[in-house]
Amino acid sequence: MNTEKKPIYPIQVWDITEQEFKRENNYRNETTFALSNGYIGTRGTFEEAYPFDIDTGLEGNFVNGFYESEHIRYGEANFGSPLLSQSLLNLPNLKEIRVMLDGELFSMEEGSVEEYSRTLHMKEGILERKLVWTSSLGHKTKIRISRLVSFARKNIMVIQYQVTPLNYSGKIRFASKLEADVENHTRKTNPIVDYGPFGRRLLKTCIRTGQDRSYYEGTTKGSHLTMACGSAHEIFRGTQSVDREDLWNGEQGEWSAVLSAEVEAKEGETITLDKFICYTTELDMPKEELESFVNQELSDALQEGYACLKEKQKTYMESFWKTADVKIKGNEALQQGIHFNLYHILQAAGRDGKTGMGAKGLSGEGYEGHYFWDTEMYVLPVLVYTEPQAARQLLDYRYGTLEQARKRARILGHEKGALYPWRTINGEEASTYYPLGTAQYHINADIAYALSLYLQVTGDVEYLKEKGAEILIETARVWADVGSFAECRDGKYCICDVTGPDEYNVLVDNNFYTNLMARENLRHGVETVEYLEKNAPECLKRLEEKLDFSVEETGLWKKIVENMYFPYDEKRKIYPMDDGFMMRKPWDETKIPPEKRAWLYENYHPLFIMRHRMSKQADAILGMYLHSHLFTEEEIRRNYDFYQEVTLHHSSLSTCIFGIVACDIGYLDTGYEYFSQSARMDLDDYHNNFYAGIHAANMAGTWQAIVNGFAGMRCQESELRFKPAIPKEWEAYSFRLKYRGTLLEVSISKEEAKFTILEGENISFRIGTKEITLNGEGDCYVEKI
Ligand code: BGC
Repeated sequence: MNTEKKPIYPIQVWDITEQEFKRENNYRNETTFALSNGYIGTRGTFEEAYPFDIDTGLEGNFVNGFYESEHIRYGEANFGSPLLSQSLLNLPNLKEIRVMLDGELFSMEEGSVEEYSRTLHMKEGILERKLVWTSSLGHKTKIRISRLVSFARKNIMVIQYQVTPLNYSGKIRFASKLEADVENHTRKTNPIVDYGPFGRRLLKTCIRTGQDRSYYEGTTKGSHLTMACGSAHEIFRGTQSVDREDLWNGEQGEWSAVLSAEVEAKEGETITLDKFICYTTELDMPKEELESFVNQELSDALQEGYACLKEKQKTYMESFWKTADVKIKGNEALQQGIHFNLYHILQAAGRDGKTGMGAKGLSGEGYEGHYFWDTEMYVLPVLVYTEPQAARQLLDYRYGTLEQARKRARILGHEKGALYPWRTINGEEASTYYPLGTAQYHINADIAYALSLYLQVTGDVEYLKEKGAEILIETARVWADVGSFAECRDGKYCICDVTGPDEYNVLVDNNFYTNLMARENLRHGVETVEYLEKNAPECLKRLEEKLDFSVEETGLWKKIVENMYFPYDEKRKIYPMDDGFMMRKPWDETKIPPEKRAWLYENYHPLFIMRHRMSKQADAILGMYLHSHLFTEEEIRRNYDFYQEVTLHHSSLSTCIFGIVACDIGYLDTGYEYFSQSARMDLDDYHNNFYAGIHAANMAGTWQAIVNGFAGMRCQESELRFKPAIPKEWEAYSFRLKYRGTLLEVSISKEEAKFTILEGENISFRIGTKEITLNGEGDCYVEKI
């Protein structure tokens, strides 16, 4: 991978700035400047609504969890193939505001643009565009447009549009639109999918304007879900609200509603339009309540006003950065990359307990908006230490979809337990190609892992009793059923025909990662049941009844834990990825033309790919990172040396993991190289596909690369450990984490690692064999390095 790619945007640690508007950069920049609060997502498109074609732009507005379904067309469907698709639906657009400046329509493609900048202010959570526009008649206007998707108000986004005539006085006319003639760009954003959604998918139930407001309600054709949206407006001359009865003129067509208003502006006078936008759906309330909810939300937002919402946004962001920020001294480009990544993860994750996190967040249509294991293995671990409440809400989403997972397990022939879908929005399996989808059973163990990590780091025993235990038991049950004690493997427990994380080795027997994670899932299942027996028998009784579960089942779980099979290569003393891995043909990259190398599935038959001994992404190595306490450093080093030769890193989920493991075994320089590739991967668009949306997993992986990699932090068996190191390129770095209610700051320089309690009571951790306990705020420990 190219690490020398030139930065696309100027290096500014807290900002991302576009200095010039260019059509050819538009599609990518729409993702860079996408805003979201985990519920509403909106792409960084312009208020002027330029007519971009399918290759240069995509207007996109999404609501987490709101999807459209179509009947999936299969050439050859097998039993259990999902019949209905789920695609995050592109919803009506309300950002459009066209402005006539004394009779001339503002467009950056007419007249001339000076002093242009569009900046994502990551510290404040605001997107701001500034420019001076000279019309063809020579009228100069200063324009400043700010936009935010509110973290304080889940359903609200706001645009503040300010114009100041610089060398003329005249009429300023705003035409603020609600555009419902929208559709997904499936052919472009999900090219391998042949079922859509194509065309307009929302059937309009109502579209109307009234005074300063517009309102729309529509129901999807396939999933039969109803959504509603609307806008409210206020205009100011200077700081004075323009309060004229006849200010707004509404017009509605079949697919759109436009509100227009005209005000006189004197030279040098600023006219401001504040546009408040609200989205909601029937996933949150009965259909009959949608309209009154939208109206009330808009009234409340108007009442609060833009300045107040902006202030609340800042406050929210301050509290986020207070815990989540990672400071790097000595490399501003990487610092900017880290901020960008953390900012987008914050935006991506659902925070209402009913929604998850798409692999692309809410920044685009890529992967149909589906939630994968990316959430649990990459993003959730970051949130566990920085925003535990948000981590819990993502786990709630999985808890809330247990019923669908139970049904899925039955389809797969498991009489008990739950099998989570490989990709989904509504909790049902949406993967249409089972070798790369449903066969990734490891999703069950990944969810159980994330849950166990949450419980260890927060000590939230109530959550275990209320919801967690049920997830652990139900996932464990599937592991206890999927395999067998195979005679040909000395009676060891084998799991056949699964796909591990690595998507180039498919339907394999005894995938090392899967067997390891399954074993740990079962182990946690056993421990949980024993814990409940002792400490919460009433909870266990409830689960026994609810799940038709008997404690005796854990006898089999224990036997599997003790007898799990792992493929092992005696000669190399490594764990091959699966039973057949060492038999596969060595990969010869020179035979693959460079332009096809990163796109194997697009250019080669799956069987050609699967018969080679190479790997798309971190697989066995990931298991060793997560459970490093179960392996010796020497063992990890041997495996790392082997896998780094055969891994192509064709998935964005790979390099960050290799970087962490490299640090674990003392290959700090290599760890740093991997880290540098991950840290600016999206910001510099290494994969040339950023237009389709962010790579949320890798973004979170860069936080892990610093904290778990360079600082060597792990929480295993309820013990917090560090093994601090610093890349030679840096002067110092620091981060904070929440552990059992205590906020700890870790600052690492070339000479020492300093651990300080910022908030909370006490904390214990280990560095090598040293046990350290800090007591009370301000207490600190310094370790020489
Ligand atoms: C990766 C998966 C990942 C998915 C979504 C695929 O290319 O191989 O591991 O879950 O992308 O990010």
